[in-house]
Amino acid sequence: MWERIELVRGDITGQDTDAIVNAANHTLLGGGGVDGAIHKTAGPELIEECRTLGGCPTGEARITKGYHLRAKYVIHTVGPIWRGGGGGESRLLQSCYENSMRLVAEYGCRSVAFPSISTGSYGYPIKEAAPVAIGSVAHVLGVCPDIELVRFVLYSNEDYLLYRDLFEKMKKQTAPKRA
Ligand code: APR
Repeated sequence: MWERIELVRGDITGQDTDAIVNAANHTLLGGGGVDGAIHKTAGPELIEECRTLGGCPTGEARITKGYHLRAKYVIHTVGPIWRGGGGGESRLLQSCYENSMRLVAEYGCRSVAFPSISTGSYGYPIKEAAPVAIGSVAHVLGVCPDIELVRFVLYSNEDYLLYRDLFEKMKKQTAPKRA
């Protein structure tokens, strides 16, 4: 399933995947970072639809239309705020990816783009978050053959290189052993 995972450096709002994932907060009423960029590009209808959803608990995900975005859908997920790692943050982050992928499958999306959830304002150290992100997605891809592409969109070169190095290591660890 590794061949169905892609890493790019770029802006989540420009992705042409069927769905893009928003790093939202529990109100689903917008914010800065990814959230601000997605709402700005999608246009005002997005917040109108979000208002009907009544918020979203940490670790869960909700889906809306993409409006003026290239993506047909936006999957809004609320990542954990990093408080040192002792409060179940990694389990909640894993749930964000798993619940987002569940909606990708439920809505028949063949491709999805993720930002690095929680590693901005929410302070989750990216070195801790990246293995959770890639591992959770790889696990779901293993049981969802219809999802053809998961793209991780990293905003900075530093974040991209970190994800890429980890991704290469994970692929090597699970490569079929040479006979
Ligand atoms: N495209 C891709 N990645 C981006 C973009 C973008 N346009 N803008 C920021 N990022 C990156 C950040 O560099 C960071 O690595 O996305 C990652 C997540 O950062 P945030 O957007 O701050 O998200 P998060 O850490 O999950 O915090 C969520 O911030 O914007 C508010 O309303 C949001 O309260 C919520 C909180």
